[in-house]
Amino acid sequence: MPANGQVRWGIIGTANIARAVFLPGLRQAGGEASAVAGRDADRAAKFASDNGIGRSVVGYQTLIDDPDIDALYIPLPNALHAEWTIRALEAGKPVLCEKPLCGVLPDTERVLATARRTQTLLWEAFSFPFHAQLAELKRLVADGAIGELVEIKSNFHFMVRSQANIRLSRELQGGALLDVGCYPVRLAQELFGPDHESAWARARAGGDGVDVDTWGVLGYSGGRRLMFSCGFGRSYDTFTTLEGTSGQIHVTNPFHPGPDDSYQVVRPGDEQGPVPAAPDELSFTPLTGHIDAVLRGEQAPRLLAVDTSLPTAQALSDLAEAIWA
Ligand SMILES: NC(=O)c1ccc[n+]([C@@H]2O[C@H](COP(=O)([O-])OP(=O)(O)OC[C@H]3O[C@@H](n4cnc5c(N)ncnc54)[C@H](OP(=O)(O)O)[C@@H]3O)[C@@H](O)[C@H]2O)c1
Repeated sequence: MPANGQVRWGIIGTANIARAVFLPGLRQAGGEASAVAGRDADRAAKFASDNGIGRSVVGYQTLIDDPDIDALYIPLPNALHAEWTIRALEAGKPVLCEKPLCGVLPDTERVLATARRTQTLLWEAFSFPFHAQLAELKRLVADGAIGELVEIKSNFHFMVRSQANIRLSRELQGGALLDVGCYPVRLAQELFGPDHESAWARARAGGDGVDVDTWGVLGYSGGRRLMFSCGFGRSYDTFTTLEGTSGQIHVTNPFHPGPDDSYQVVRPGDEQGPVPAAPDELSFTPLTGHIDAVLRGEQAPRLLAVDTSLPTAQALSDLAEAIWA
């Protein structure tokens, strides 16, 4: 890393999420992207100049091998996460890979084994576990604010209009469960723990043979459960309820809280006002700020993929099996 301590990020692929979410969060956290790699020279150069990135290179391996890059962000289609994350880890470069870490369980296991063997830092880009809002929700639940948490009801829907969207491609491991269903699944892991006992799901198929409207249940010990609904055919909806034995917490957006989002504790006879979720903080700011601090040696790593990603991948695999069996 350079003497000024600035982590030099490289972005693999000219992805929409890199432009719209990763870069604004990284910059708000004080970080900077040094280069972007693309499969096509003109597209990569335009992406760099449109988004204030210093330079572009052709070919993902070129960026992985670049000695002036300290960390890699991998926002490729799901089916490519394993190959390029493994290549980056083998080169000893810390990686932030987009969620889900991989589209199928054996790939997740290979990636995690590589991270362990190479002792290279790897994070899966779920940003919400780094948010103050999730810490506050966990504290409320632990303090018994709603009694015992017994059920999570969670939605993640948005509209996909273009048939060319990677989310509608079976080959690229699209589908609603992997793309957005992974969020309620990870939320349940955060609140119920890593071990589900049962998985049931159904879906409507669309696009190129992927699930586009999906609903299901993950069961946990003692009858606790996640009931989720996700898809590509409704307007944006991330509304989530944490149901306890003596009350509820309504959360407008547990996953990407913005300025208009809030959570609210609702108990019979004791209704409190909504609490703003994240007044000034962008979705990726705490996550990217943490990684930069780790790479500068200022923080110990938290929520690494080797510690968190397998239960999510196992649950997604079990739900997918229930859908397609
Ligand atoms: N954490 C979050 O909040 C969040 C939000 C949205 C999406 N995501 C995740 O981010 C990843 C990318 O999503 P996105 O919506 O940003 O995708 P996107 O805009 O379609 O970008 C994907 C990029 O991958 C590269 N690519 C390589 N091979 C490709 C192929 N065969 N087909 C299409 N693109 C290919 C392309 O860059 P070049 O051709 O220029 O190399 C393309 O720009 C997914 O894993 C998704 O689940 C995460």
